[in-house]
Amino acid sequence: MVIMAESLHKDGVWSALFSEPVDALVQRYTASVSFDKRLASFDIQGSLAHAEMLCAQGILSEQDYADIRRGMAQISDEIQSGDFQWEPGLEDVHMNIESRLTALIGDAGKRLHTGRSRNDQVATDIRLYLRMETDNILALLCRFCTVLLDVAERHADTIMPGFTHLQVAQPVTLGHHLLAYAEMFSRDAQRLRDCRTRINVLPLGSAALAGTTFAIDRFRVARTLGFEGVCRNSMDAVSDRDFAIEFCAASSLLMTHISRMAEELILWMNPRFGFIDMPDRFCTGSSIMPQKKNPDVPELARGKTGRVHGNLVALLTLMKGQPLAYNKDNQEDKEPLFDTADTVSDTLRIFIEMVGALTVNEIALRTAALQGYATATDLADYLVRKGMPFRAAHAVVASVVRACIARQCDIGEMDLSDLAQFSPLIEQDVMDILTLQGSVSARDHIGGTAPAQVRRVIAEMREEMAQLFGGSASSGTLD
Ligand code: ARG
Repeated sequence: MVIMAESLHKDGVWSALFSEPVDALVQRYTASVSFDKRLASFDIQGSLAHAEMLCAQGILSEQDYADIRRGMAQISDEIQSGDFQWEPGLEDVHMNIESRLTALIGDAGKRLHTGRSRNDQVATDIRLYLRMETDNILALLCRFCTVLLDVAERHADTIMPGFTHLQVAQPVTLGHHLLAYAEMFSRDAQRLRDCRTRINVLPLGSAALAGTTFAIDRFRVARTLGFEGVCRNSMDAVSDRDFAIEFCAASSLLMTHISRMAEELILWMNPRFGFIDMPDRFCTGSSIMPQKKNPDVPELARGKTGRVHGNLVALLTLMKGQPLAYNKDNQEDKEPLFDTADTVSDTLRIFIEMVGALTVNEIALRTAALQGYATATDLADYLVRKGMPFRAAHAVVASVVRACIARQCDIGEMDLSDLAQFSPLIEQDVMDILTLQGSVSARDHIGGTAPAQVRRVIAEMREEMAQLFGGSASSGTLD
């Protein structure tokens, strides 16, 4: 059923089939224009590609196509300048634009919907929108990884305590620690790129659910809109939103990684750690406690992760009960999707600036690394190299640490003669491996924290970024 938007607009009745106008509350309940007007430019882009194809196929006249182009150009201007009158009574972005087009150009506007339904139209709009958002987020991710690599490079030799269970475990370099995040965000980028290939497929031509009786050329429309292919099943094309769910899933993981990092930045800024400081422009104060400088941005990023996860669950739940093909439930896909894309973009844009501007207190990091017997494993490994079984070495070093606790000193601060009492295998050369420097440098294999490895991985990741993203690393500033 093709319904002319005009008739809905005039008397609030869908068609001759309806004997009364839509109830006012129902109209408000079913209308989506307040949020889907955001799709307007994609809706127009899709309509123009459809009209161009209809004309090329001889279904629309040259004159009608020219009128549609002219009408759409004016509508675009009106939307951009804020002059466009959005009517909630016209339900959604599609009916609003079509109605205005018909008002401007007459019958040619009424012919645009030939061989098309709002079902394939809206699916196309969302895919165009999401492709753009995905590209935008990919560029931001690339920028963010580049910032992480830059900071990691500056701190390839900066030693800090590595934690497990948030207790001092072994010395690592800050560069290595930051590279862990670069790995996470690089996988997030790979996931989004992969998801993009499934977003970038054309639903238009599926019409309401079964296809159309007109001799359309779907590949022509796909080419015009830059899609890599066309959806092969019309019922699937108009109904499933798995590509949007995938995007939300990839975004949820991305925000999980952001949230982990946010948590560390918050801890590290606490004076008990004192590892970093954040420029004032990323912090706020307290209305009552004049001494406070709060890391609101990472806290909010950690908090906003919740809404991005929630949006994923919303879309999964939205989809799970739907029989084929299109159902109005799908109108509910937009707000969670928009919110996810907006939250991820804003968060990345802020993190790019904030992480790039962190100041690092190298002395605090080093002091903390000296405080938790972080080189205990190095001593155990040393004993193993001298022939002791690892479990026995583990026990010997536990005794050494106990003695250190009693004397309130680090393992490296013990005299050689004292250390040697714990095992005859301990000799002069032990002192080299007990320094923080010795500890990190010794982990010199792929995946290890040695500064040489950190530098090698940074170079490797820079290369990968360039290959993955080409020129897209440049955008993404805080404005
Ligand atoms: N506003 C609708 C949506 O967002 C457009 C499709 C409406 N289709 C329909 N058969 N009522 O999904």
